[in-house]
Amino acid sequence: MMLDGLDPRPFVPMEYVVRLARTPWEVTGHHALRRDVFCVEQGIFAQDDRDGIDASAIPIVAACCVAGMPDRIVGAVRIHEAEPGLWRGSRLAVHADHRRLGRIGAELIRMAVCTAHGLGASRFLAQVQEQNVPFFRRLYWKSLGEITLHGLAHHDMEADLSRYPATGREQTWLLRPQPRNSQPRTRQAA
Ligand SMILES: CC(C)(COP(=O)(O)OP(=O)(O)OC[C@H]1O[C@@H](n2cnc3c(N)ncnc32)[C@H](O)[C@@H]1OP(=O)(O)O)[C@@H](O)C(=O)NCCC(=O)NCCS
Repeated sequence: MMLDGLDPRPFVPMEYVVRLARTPWEVTGHHALRRDVFCVEQGIFAQDDRDGIDASAIPIVAACCVAGMPDRIVGAVRIHEAEPGLWRGSRLAVHADHRRLGRIGAELIRMAVCTAHGLGASRFLAQVQEQNVPFFRRLYWKSLGEITLHGLAHHDMEADLSRYPATGREQTWLLRPQPRNSQPRTRQAA
């Protein structure tokens, strides 16, 4: 029997949460996911992608929920203030099994920029791998020019802060994956 229109993935979680990492397991999961994506999958770094920025960066996570509880970190990004008022985002990663599913990458970007805005950012920049430039453009980012980073083509990009209202650090956003042809919903929790 054909099951037309059904997602072929073996398991699609009901819910994800996106928030600033608050607990040791979230920070550990944030780094483990970055290692999986940037060292193992993309081979950009050999053993570990951590650098000096991590000492001052704010880690943000997306956790996949099981029975209503955050269970596993499947999304990560970090933000830091590079110069007064100038914030940067980096190391955006979504676990391969959870991509193009619940808008996890887009919502991590939204939390990254809105949080930095709330902390006083007047500009927010990121160095974006070339294949992701259309994704960022759709999210109201513009390219400031091409650069080469770790031997790979990137664009220096800037977010349009007027599209990213300032938020506080205590936000938790819930994401519910929707069937492919309908709009995903986001709602905010306390
Ligand atoms: C890039 C990445 C973070 C995107 O995460 P994601 O959770 O799959 O993205 P989303 O589900 O939020 O995508 C939102 C929308 O953008 C689209 N999109 C996602 N990646 C895209 C890309 N590279 N180019 C164009 N569109 C893209 C999705 O199809 C989706 O479209 P829809 O709203 O019409 O369904 C993820 O693919 C990833 O981790 N890649 C490997 C690491 C990496 O490249 N990191 C970024 C370094 S700059």
